[in-house]
Amino acid sequence: MNNIENNMPPLQEPDRQLYFIEKCKELVAKKSEELGRPLRAVTHTLGCQMNARDSEKLMGILEKIGYELTEDEDSADFVIYNTCTVRDNANQKVYGRLGYLKNYKKKNPDLMIAMCGCMMQEQVVIDKIKKSYRFVDLIFGTHNVFKLAELLYERLNSDTMIIDIWEGTNEIVEDLPVDRKYTFKSGVNIMYGCNNFCTYCIVPYVRGRERSRNPEDIINEIKRLVSEGVKEVMLLGQNVNSYGKNLENPMSFVKLLEEVEKIEGLERIRFMTSHPKDLSEELIQVMKKSKKICKHLHLPLQSGSSKVLKAMNRRYDKERYLSLASRIKEEIPDIALTTDIIVGFPGETEEDFEETLDVVSKVRYDSAFTFIYSKRTGTPAAAMEQVPEEVSKDRFQRLLKLVQTIAAEECNKRVGQVEEVLVEEKSSREGMMSGRLSTNNIVHFDGGEDLIGQIVKVQLLEAKGFYYIGKLVK
Ligand code: SAH
Ligand code: SF4
Ligand code: F3S
Repeated sequence: MNNIENNMPPLQEPDRQLYFIEKCKELVAKKSEELGRPLRAVTHTLGCQMNARDSEKLMGILEKIGYELTEDEDSADFVIYNTCTVRDNANQKVYGRLGYLKNYKKKNPDLMIAMCGCMMQEQVVIDKIKKSYRFVDLIFGTHNVFKLAELLYERLNSDTMIIDIWEGTNEIVEDLPVDRKYTFKSGVNIMYGCNNFCTYCIVPYVRGRERSRNPEDIINEIKRLVSEGVKEVMLLGQNVNSYGKNLENPMSFVKLLEEVEKIEGLERIRFMTSHPKDLSEELIQVMKKSKKICKHLHLPLQSGSSKVLKAMNRRYDKERYLSLASRIKEEIPDIALTTDIIVGFPGETEEDFEETLDVVSKVRYDSAFTFIYSKRTGTPAAAMEQVPEEVSKDRFQRLLKLVQTIAAEECNKRVGQVEEVLVEEKSSREGMMSGRLSTNNIVHFDGGEDLIGQIVKVQLLEAKGFYYIGKLVK
C-alpha cells in the first residue's frame, strides 16, 4: 500500500505537495460552504522577474486549493506578500503594508496573511515580524515556495504563526501547478541563486548558491508552454551567462539557447540578466544569427569607473565593458541595449561618477534603471565609507537626465519603421492596445482586444521618450 492510500503524506516531491493541496482543498471547500461564497486570495509581488515567476507558482497552488484569485485586498481571505530586499525602500513598503493589514484582520478575523520572498531570508526581518506583527500567519522564504500547501495546511490545523525558512537548498521541485499572468508569454527559470557576491548586493545571501536546472527539464517546460499557446519565453537567472557550469554534464548558455531556438511554435526568446564578465563572443554570434532571440540585451553596467567596479567586485573594467558594448552593436546594429546603474556606491568620487556619465554617453542605452546605492546589512560595501545622501541624490538626478535624453533620441531613430509587435493588453490610452517590439519598447496602437497574444505589424508613428504611438499595418 502506498502512502496516499494509507492517507499519510508521501515523502517524495512533488507528490507530497499534491497531497497537501488535496487536504487544503477539503478545508477550503468546507469553509466556503459555511460562508456561502468562494474564498478569495490575493498575491502582492515586489522585486524582480524571479519573484514574479515565484508568485505565479504560488497562485497556481492557491487556485488548485480552491481559492478564487482576486486583485482586491479588501475582500480577500488570504493575502500573500512576496517581498524583495534588494534596496531598503522595498523593505519599507512591506512594513507600511503590514500596518494596513492589521486593520483588515480586525474586520475579518479569518483573514490569513502570509509573507515570503527575499526579505524573509533575513533574520532581522523575522525577528521584527515576530515582535511587532504577531498577526502574520505564515512566513516562508525563497527556497521553499513550492511548500505553500503543506505550510498552509499546518497553519489551518494550529493557531500559531508558522515560520519555515531554509538557509539554502539543492532541491529544485517542479511540476506543481502554475497560474500564468499572460497566456502568450512566460518566464522560465533556467537557474536559481547567484555566486557573484557583488559587494553591494544582498541577492546571493537571500537566494543562495547558483543552481542550474537540467536542460531537458527546461526544454520540456517550454514545449509544454508552447503547446498551451505561449509565443515568447523569458529565460530567467541572475547571471544567465554562467548557466550550466555546475550541471553534472556541463552545458553552456549558448548551447541552451540553440536548443530553445529549435522548439517549433516558439516565436520569441528573451533572457535576463547577462553579467558582462561572462558574456561571450559565441553569445553575440548566436544572437546575431537567431531568428527568435529578441533584439534586446540587458547588460548591467553598475558603474563606469574601473576603480568603483573593482570595489564592487564586478570583475570587468570600463574598457572591457565599452569594447563589449561596441562589439555587440557592431555585430547587431539594430539591437537595443539597456542597463542598471548605481550611483553613490561607497567611495564614489565626482570623477568616478563622471566616468559613469561617459559610458552612458558612449553606449547610448535605449533605457536604463538607475538606483541610488542602498546599504544592505551583511554585505561588504555596508562597512565601506558611505557617500553623503545629498551627493548621491544630486548625481542621481544628473544621471537620470542624461539617460532620459539619450533614450528619447535612440527611441526617435525608429520612428517610421514597421516592427513586429506581440500584443499584450488593452492600453491605458482610450481605444488602443499595447504590445512590445523585439527591442522590448512598448507601443500603443489602434486595434481590438482580439489581437491579444498575436504578433502583428505596427508602424511607429511617434516616439514618446521610451515608448511609441503606432498604427496597425494590415
Ligand atoms: N543579477 C543582476 C541584478 C539583480 S539586482 C545583475 O547582476 O545584473 C537588480 C539591480 O539592482 C542590480 O543590477 C543593481 O543595479 C541594483 N542593486 C542591487 N543591489 C543594490 C543596492 N544595494 N543598492 C542599489 N541598487 C542595487
Ligand atoms: Fe547581485 Fe551581482 Fe549576483 Fe547580480 S550578479 S544578483 S548584482 S551579486
Ligand atoms: Fe529583490 Fe529578491 Fe529579486 S531581493 S530583486 S526579489 S532576487
